[in-house]
Amino acid sequence: MSKLTQLPAWRTLWNHFSRARDWHMRELFAADPERAERYWLQAEGLTLDYSKNRISDQTLTLLLQLAEEAGLPEQIEAMFHGDKINVTESRAVLHVALRNRADTPILVDGEDVMPKVNRVLERMGRFAHAVRSGEWLGYTRQPITDIVNIGIGGSDLGPLMVCQALRPYAHPRMNMHFVSNVDSSQLKETLKRVHPETTLFVIESKTFTTQETLTNALTAREWFVARARDEKAVAKHFVAVSTNKQAVAEFGIDPANMFEFWDWVGGRFSLWSAIGLPIMLYLGEESFLDLLEGAHGMDQHFRNAPLAANMPVILALIGIWYINFYGGGSHVIAPYDQYLHRLPAFIQQLDMESNGKQTLRDGQPVDFETAPIIWGETGINGQHAFFQLLHQGTHTSPIDLIASLENCSSLPGHHEILLANLFAQAEAFMRGKTADEVRAELTAQGLEGEALEKLVPHKVFGGNRPTNTLLMSRLDPRHLGALIALYEHKIFVQGAIWGINSFDQWGVELGKQLAKTIHAELAGKRGPAQHDSSTAKLIAFYRQVNGA
Ligand code: F6P
Repeated sequence: MSKLTQLPAWRTLWNHFSRARDWHMRELFAADPERAERYWLQAEGLTLDYSKNRISDQTLTLLLQLAEEAGLPEQIEAMFHGDKINVTESRAVLHVALRNRADTPILVDGEDVMPKVNRVLERMGRFAHAVRSGEWLGYTRQPITDIVNIGIGGSDLGPLMVCQALRPYAHPRMNMHFVSNVDSSQLKETLKRVHPETTLFVIESKTFTTQETLTNALTAREWFVARARDEKAVAKHFVAVSTNKQAVAEFGIDPANMFEFWDWVGGRFSLWSAIGLPIMLYLGEESFLDLLEGAHGMDQHFRNAPLAANMPVILALIGIWYINFYGGGSHVIAPYDQYLHRLPAFIQQLDMESNGKQTLRDGQPVDFETAPIIWGETGINGQHAFFQLLHQGTHTSPIDLIASLENCSSLPGHHEILLANLFAQAEAFMRGKTADEVRAELTAQGLEGEALEKLVPHKVFGGNRPTNTLLMSRLDPRHLGALIALYEHKIFVQGAIWGINSFDQWGVELGKQLAKTIHAELAGKRGPAQHDSSTAKLIAFYRQVNGA
């Protein structure tokens, strides 16, 4: 048995759950008029209403006790201190250093990392200023109008999500494009929309070994050189962001055009590092620094607020309550904001690549559930697609409903409709609709007898479906920074309590290895390797169809 499942609070929580499983939130609200007052938290311009969860004061007390017994406060300190908490790779985990706007020293192997963090940040700022002001010119002496980011996973999703979320802050001359898929259609369609003389390619890869990114980068380079007809022009149009200087040089990008970061920055936590260069190019240095400020504010809140008033901790503990006790295996992210439409995809990587693990830090298998399946879409579109299942399906999935309070769009009337829908959904998920309420409604519509009774079961909503309502004062760089950091820390807390390493991702390796072998086989560069009959047949079929 794991240490976690032997903790006193874990056992007490199971006893408590045997009563809590029958609660209905309707009754919890009816019995406690102060509920919304108490289950309400504010930090760094974010407001969290967590009252619509199947929890009581006792549930929270026990969950907080679990966090203490699992050593959460010590683990938070270990991260901020630069301890090598990524045990399988023997690395510190210091995305918090990248946004340490207080500039207090943070040591890794006895070296304060802040001077190099600040140096890269300043270099990024100078470069972004040169490009945005038109001082940096392309090979025909024209200013840059288009940035093409080539990267995948953490080298794509973070910058992509932020650039789209903060589009109103973008430079009016600048168009931003993201290419991640090795399916050439994405690159081909992007190249149709840009001109070599005015395009800057940012090749982003922590390792600079990722096949998809290097393939796309090489094709983009060939496309560019074929048009510029001058290898030297590459220096004005290609920059790299990586931890691997040698691989960047071997690829053919001058290390003078490389922006560096370090192995203590995980890919999915890297948007705060030089991986944020496209953000800075598109939105400007000031917006990027505001993003860092917002995240730093949330870091301070996370490090210093008592656990009971700590937003990431509360979100994480409520998540653990559902995942480990109710057995809820999925979690929905539903932003009520079109600009945040890639937030679900971003959090999907952040959470599932971090905590999608089945091995404890000491190598033993877990004996409980870990990361939920994260999915989602903008809330309003979800309402007309998958919310049916969330309301009346057989799965119960907690939902984060996210919006900004301030109307940032200049078009009148829309924001109220959006927020009215969010609040209505949260209420509907909680309350549901009883058979008596349905009967009363149908009677008022003039139905009666058998016709009415036939409809009743279809129109009943069980309710009792948990939601967190998360409101940002406004969608701007600072509050977006705080929101992202909130989720990063929520995921950290869950991993810390479960006792897993949230900072490696060995699970993506096997597919990569096999793809290399199969790629050579598809191209006829090596004979058939040992495969199962299904894989062997698929390879043979492909080769036959393509005449290979
Ligand atoms: O395949 C998973 C992964 O390693 C992610 O963790 C990472 O964000 C992504 O690939 C891209 O890696 P890189 O930045 O090294 O190209």
